[in-house]
Amino acid sequence: MTIPTPHIKCSEQGVIAETVLLPGDPLRAKFIADTFLEDVVQFNTVRNMFGYTGTYKGKKISVMGTGMGIPSIGIYSYELIHFYGVKNLIRIGSCGAIREDIKIRDVLIGMGACTNSNYAAQYELPGTYAPIASWELLNKAVNVAKEKGIEVKVGNILSSDTFYDAQKDSWKKWGAMGVMGVEMEAAALYMNAAYAGVNALCLLTVSDSLVTHEATTPEERQNTFTQMMEIALELA
Ligand code: HPA
Repeated sequence: MTIPTPHIKCSEQGVIAETVLLPGDPLRAKFIADTFLEDVVQFNTVRNMFGYTGTYKGKKISVMGTGMGIPSIGIYSYELIHFYGVKNLIRIGSCGAIREDIKIRDVLIGMGACTNSNYAAQYELPGTYAPIASWELLNKAVNVAKEKGIEVKVGNILSSDTFYDAQKDSWKKWGAMGVMGVEMEAAALYMNAAYAGVNALCLLTVSDSLVTHEATTPEERQNTFTQMMEIALELA
C-alpha cells in the first residue's frame, strides 16, 4: 500500500503509533496531544483532521480526529489500519443517554455497537453481523478504570446514521433492548477492525440525555472527557 493516502498526509512508515486514540473532534486530538503527550509530532493536517504522535509515560501513542459519522470514521480507520499498520484503535467520544439508568457524565464502554447503518452490506454476509469490541482492549480498559477509581458502565451502544431522525422516538426501542446510549461511529470502527483482524474499542462520555433532556456544560464535558482520556491513554 502506498502512502500518503488520500486523507492522511504522512509519507513515512513508523510515524503513526500502533495504538491510536480517535476523538471525533480534531481539536480534541490537539487538546490530548498538548495536555498529555511528550515529544509530539503532527502527522496530519488534511481537512483539518489533525493527527499527532507522542509518548505517554514513555510509550508511543497517536491521537487523531475522525470527524462525525460512520463514513468519516470508516475512511480514517481503514487508512490507519491498512496503510499505516495501526493495531489498536480506541474511539473516545460523546453520546446521548437513551435509558433512564444512564446519566449525563457517565463513562460508557461499548461492548457491542448496534447500528441502523448499511455499512455491513459490503461484507455480503448471509445474516446480521454483531459488531463487538476487542476483548483484550475492553478487559484492559475495565481494569484501568478500576485502578483509577473511575466507574464505567459496559454494554451495548447504538451507532446511528442520523442525529436528527424523522422518527423522533426511535431511540426508545433501542433503549428498551438495553442499549445505553447513541453515538454515530463505533459500529464502523468495530467492523473495519474485525475484517482486518485488529483491535478496536469505544469509550464514551454521556454528554446529553434523550430521556431527561439534560446536557453537560462545557466545563463538565472537559472534566469527564479527561477521565475517559486517562483510561484510553493507559491502553498503549
Ligand atoms: N445522538 C447521536 N450522537 C450523539 C448524541 C446524540 O444524541 N449525543 C452525543 N453524540
